[in-house]
Amino acid sequence: MAESAHIRSLLVFMVFYLVHYSDQSQPSQYQALLRIKHQLNFPAEISSWTENTDFCNGEPNSFLTLVCYEDSITQLHVEGNSFFPQLSQDFSTVDLFFNLLSLPNLKVLSLVSLGLRGELPSTIGNLSSLEIVNISSNYFEGSIPTEIFKLKNLQSLVMDHNKFTGQVPDCLGRLPLLAVLSLKNNSLRGSVPTSVSSLETLRTLVLSTNMLSGEVPSLQNLANLQVLDLEGNKLGPHFPRLPTKLVSLVLRKNNFIYAKLNELSSFFQLQNLDISLNQFVGPFAPSLLSLPSLTYLDIAGNKFTGRLLEGTSCNAELHFVNISSNRLTGVLPTCLESNAKSRTVLYARNCLSESYQNQHPYSFCHNEALAVSVLPHKQEKETHSKAVLASSMVGGIIGAILLLGLALLIIRREYGKQKINKVPHARLIMEKVSPAITLKVLKDASYISETRKLGPLGLPPYRTFVLDELKEATNNFSALNLIGDGSHGQVYKGLLTDGTLVAIRCLKMRKRHSIQTYTHHLELISKLRHSHLVSALGHCFDCYPDDSSVNKILVVFEHVPHGTLRGFVSDGHLQQKLTWTQRMAAATGVAKGIQFLHTGMVPGIFSNQLKITDTLMDHDFHVKISKYNLPLLAENGRPECVTISSIGSKEKVGHRLRYEEKDDVFDFGVILLEIIVGRAIVSQNDINVSNDILLVSLTADDIARRSIVDPIISKECSDASLKILIQLCLKCLSNVPSDRPSVEDVLWNLQFAAQVQDSWHRDSSSNHGSPIHFC
Ligand SMILES: *[C@@H]1O[C@H](CO)[C@@H](O)[C@H](O)[C@H]1NC(C)=O
Ligand SMILES: *[C@@H]1O[C@H](CO)[C@@H](O)[C@H](O)[C@H]1NC(C)=O
Ligand SMILES: *[C@@H]1O[C@H](CO)[C@@H](O)[C@H](O)[C@H]1NC(C)=O
Ligand SMILES: *[C@@H]1O[C@H](CO)[C@@H](O)[C@H](O)[C@H]1NC(C)=O
Repeated sequence: MAESAHIRSLLVFMVFYLVHYSDQSQPSQYQALLRIKHQLNFPAEISSWTENTDFCNGEPNSFLTLVCYEDSITQLHVEGNSFFPQLSQDFSTVDLFFNLLSLPNLKVLSLVSLGLRGELPSTIGNLSSLEIVNISSNYFEGSIPTEIFKLKNLQSLVMDHNKFTGQVPDCLGRLPLLAVLSLKNNSLRGSVPTSVSSLETLRTLVLSTNMLSGEVPSLQNLANLQVLDLEGNKLGPHFPRLPTKLVSLVLRKNNFIYAKLNELSSFFQLQNLDISLNQFVGPFAPSLLSLPSLTYLDIAGNKFTGRLLEGTSCNAELHFVNISSNRLTGVLPTCLESNAKSRTVLYARNCLSESYQNQHPYSFCHNEALAVSVLPHKQEKETHSKAVLASSMVGGIIGAILLLGLALLIIRREYGKQKINKVPHARLIMEKVSPAITLKVLKDASYISETRKLGPLGLPPYRTFVLDELKEATNNFSALNLIGDGSHGQVYKGLLTDGTLVAIRCLKMRKRHSIQTYTHHLELISKLRHSHLVSALGHCFDCYPDDSSVNKILVVFEHVPHGTLRGFVSDGHLQQKLTWTQRMAAATGVAKGIQFLHTGMVPGIFSNQLKITDTLMDHDFHVKISKYNLPLLAENGRPECVTISSIGSKEKVGHRLRYEEKDDVFDFGVILLEIIVGRAIVSQNDINVSNDILLVSLTADDIARRSIVDPIISKECSDASLKILIQLCLKCLSNVPSDRPSVEDVLWNLQFAAQVQDSWHRDSSSNHGSPIHFC
């Protein structure tokens, strides 16, 4: 009793000491947090903070996240709700940011919906570690301080839904890493700064719902730009020059007039195109309907002209089309009529010969079409206004009025000195990122902070690669880097520029399909992450230049450095052979990997044709399954395999569908067999022979039984655990799939055997007075 009381007080002291100690190392940071709590007037999310709060180890939730690195606060995320308490009268952003200066290592600052008001102080520029800033949904006012552009590490700047006024400072070029800039729903005026043209790292640019005006500077060099949203401004009249990798383009509700829609026909990754509610004139490009990634198309409320044809083709994934209120003639393409359930198609107020949605008479569109068709080449000539006027005589009254407007525009344009250079013909893109995945990723800019932070498996987040990156990593897929070539494609070893070693599997597609065909598979692959799997880090498409169908898919996997499990149980040097305990752990790892393949995602991945040579060893003898049945392979038709497991599975073909999970259990049995006997099992005959020996050994005495296992472990394994494993192995190798145990049973038995071994080891070591070194 007295002793336990003593221990308890010692513990209390230690805890106190530790808390006290860590407190002392960072007192100013914690003090600053408490002051911030006062300044924010105790919002519910942080009102419980006290002197004794263990800031660095709190449970994060969606309203409050604090992340520390080595006791120093690196991420502060506070999100209020609509019921945040009014800030006190003397609230001052200057004081707030002054306190934030006490967190010198702050990388992520997110203060959302907290009712913050006043100007954003220039001291934000002194928080030099900042990478991600999100101060959306507050009442920040005044202009955006230029000091913010001193933050060289800034990757994401999000200041949506505030009351910022003035211009967007033209010093964006100073942020070499900026990937996300979002200033949605403020009151910014002036033009889009030209410095945006030099932000090569930019992936998302959102300036919607402001009062920006004038021409959009060329964005053509922004090779990484995927999301551009300029909705709800007064931008125009010329269509911006855009990079071809865009995934989402929104120019809705602006003053754009001159479109060159056919230039968008090389935008193979474009999913979302909304240029509605402008004053666009010119021919509509029906080829847009068949853009391979397009799912959403809205050109409504413009003056696009042209004749639609019945036979125009559409991308099958296109689920929303609004071409209403334009000047289109002809008939609705058949591909838009069918499939009515899964697709919304709106086409009212054109001049189509359709009776369902309200249409104008043909002349309404025709007159304007005439006007518009003179437009492009008349621009080159000096007599343009005359010609336009002349042609307006042909048109009706409406046409005349519209033409006058047009003529005025043309004149204005002629005097405006901005001359558009001819856009060079868009180069075909060879490598592409999967649009579905990128869009998802981009929805959350905080993803970027995640790329820096490794997940629980110590892996960077799944991402898309570009072909050039992989070429560089593998010395242009040099033969010297080839580390495997077989039924599952070639595997190259590669070194990424950040120093990560990877294994790149190159899958040649047998049939030509578009990228979307594989989106779902790649989404599955991106989920293939488990500590006993060689996990996927990302992928890259290699497309045919002619029709951009997929030629190869390159899947990038983590590199596992220490060779195969076979090298550690039957093949390698004596000194690297695994002990009995390690062998049981390795078998458990393989089984856990299989269990994840079967149950870790829907649908599960079965019939993986697992082999011991595809089971790799990581640091600390941790096993990882490397070649599993990638969802892509199933689709693409698997080549014939000349391996053990296929020998084993020939008899099982009839059962394949019903017992597919048992295929993997059989293959596991073969691996376990090799682990036990310590000899390479390379043929069906090897399996049969060893199987018989195991069977006989079960009825023999323990000395005889040990004689069949790898001699190196025969002295250190307990007979009881050996027996459990032999029985398990025999069951797994059963010819009748239904007799084989489930993966769960396998795991249970392995764990049981490990416990038996463990207690035997403890007994025997206490008997001998000295521990047996290997177990
Ligand atoms: C912020 O940095 C500027 C120099 O960049 C310096 O003059 C100023 O004193 C700093 N402010 C604070 C509060 O540290
Ligand atoms: C714009 O921001 C204000 C707050 O500043 C918010 O009340 C409003 O809903 C936002 N509008 C849109 C369209 O998001
Ligand atoms: C389609 O466009 C028309 C014309 O601009 C608009 O009135 C209608 O609301 C749009 N429909 C949808 C569903 O966006
Ligand atoms: C900013 O933070 C809010 C609240 O957490 C979040 O909903 C929003 O997606 C963030 N914006 C970006 C672009 O990450």
